[in-house]
Amino acid sequence: MNMTPDLKHALVTGATGFTGGQLARTLRANGHTVRALVRRVDAPAAQALEALGISLVEGDVADAAAVDRAVAGTSHVFHIAAVYRSANHPDAYYRAVNRDSVSHIIEAARRHGVDRIVHCSTCGVHGDVAEIPATETTAFNPGDIYQRSKLEGEMIAQQAIGEGVPISIVRPTGIYGPGDTRFLKLFKTIENRTFRMFGRGDIAYHMSYVDDLVRGFILCGTHPDAVGETFLIGSDSYTTLNGLVDEIADVLDVPPVRGHIPIAPLLAAATLCEIGCKPFGIDPPLHRRRVAFFTKARAFSIEKAQRMLGYTPQVGLREGLERTAAWYRAEGYLRPAKKSLAA
Ligand SMILES: NC(=O)c1ccc[n+]([C@@H]2O[C@H](COP(=O)([O-])OP(=O)(O)OC[C@H]3O[C@@H](n4cnc5c(N)ncnc54)[C@H](OP(=O)(O)O)[C@@H]3O)[C@@H](O)[C@H]2O)c1
Repeated sequence: MNMTPDLKHALVTGATGFTGGQLARTLRANGHTVRALVRRVDAPAAQALEALGISLVEGDVADAAAVDRAVAGTSHVFHIAAVYRSANHPDAYYRAVNRDSVSHIIEAARRHGVDRIVHCSTCGVHGDVAEIPATETTAFNPGDIYQRSKLEGEMIAQQAIGEGVPISIVRPTGIYGPGDTRFLKLFKTIENRTFRMFGRGDIAYHMSYVDDLVRGFILCGTHPDAVGETFLIGSDSYTTLNGLVDEIADVLDVPPVRGHIPIAPLLAAATLCEIGCKPFGIDPPLHRRRVAFFTKARAFSIEKAQRMLGYTPQVGLREGLERTAAWYRAEGYLRPAKKSLAA
């Protein structure tokens, strides 16, 4: 247990998701009282939280009354929920979930005298970074409605900071680790050798191992110097897409990926896919944000978090990828390791 006395009662939004779930479970394991705002209390992920002693409040982050019920009586609010993984929602939906929820959280926190809000934004507010590594003061350049709505949410938090509300803003880089399925397709296609590198693969890519990020969130919720500040949080080094793909191939014990395919046809296919799926309300299997994975440079300095908060990532890329692959295998998403087959 690693309890921080000031953190009396934490609310976590997005706790049925990957990152929020890991944060809520870690806080609980550290002995804290934890509450989760969930969309459905009978969802399996919500039930799993409740089984750990995390109390549930049912509601939507876009619903001010539900947020108020969830915030009442808590000392710290970690606002992690976002519409992120699914695509093709109307812009208004992104804004309701990723922007308006921030106002609801802040208003409720003011009413109930919450000690600290940690607001989860994204490194994506910087978009395609021209000069790497980007820092917290690098210009904003959001590239899609998800990133724009996250930036708009962050702006609301910034304004409240100016009015004296105790908020700390975290901009994570690409989050991975056991429990994540976003990088599963990459692992799977590298394993079955269907992965193709669109573009040259030499753009920068910056990962954030989930347990390290959770430590960052807790630091931002408890460190006195985090109040009113914004922090980029990620691993202590970044790589290139080619480097990431090579490392995953090595972890999976398959030959390295060779060859490159021009990006333009993939972008055209993603655009058509989005257009085709929209009238039917279907989540497109391929969309432009997926293509951005191959085209947008993402490399960030975490020096501010290291200097001001003592943030120290503990899991390097190799170890993080190995742990992630082990989880995918344990879940049956990937083939068993060759060594364990031989055993
Ligand atoms: N993953 C990354 O690489 C990455 C990188 C940078 C920043 N971020 C940010 O990190 C945070 C966590 O990302 P993640 O990948 O862990 O997300 P995730 O797994 O997709 O989880 C999203 C969570 O938000 C909840 N949620 C969505 N809409 C909601 C609503 N209207 N009301 C209440 N809850 C709602 C989901 O609930 P349900 O279970 O009901 O769907 C789920 O618990 C997000 O703020 C994201 O913007 C992510």
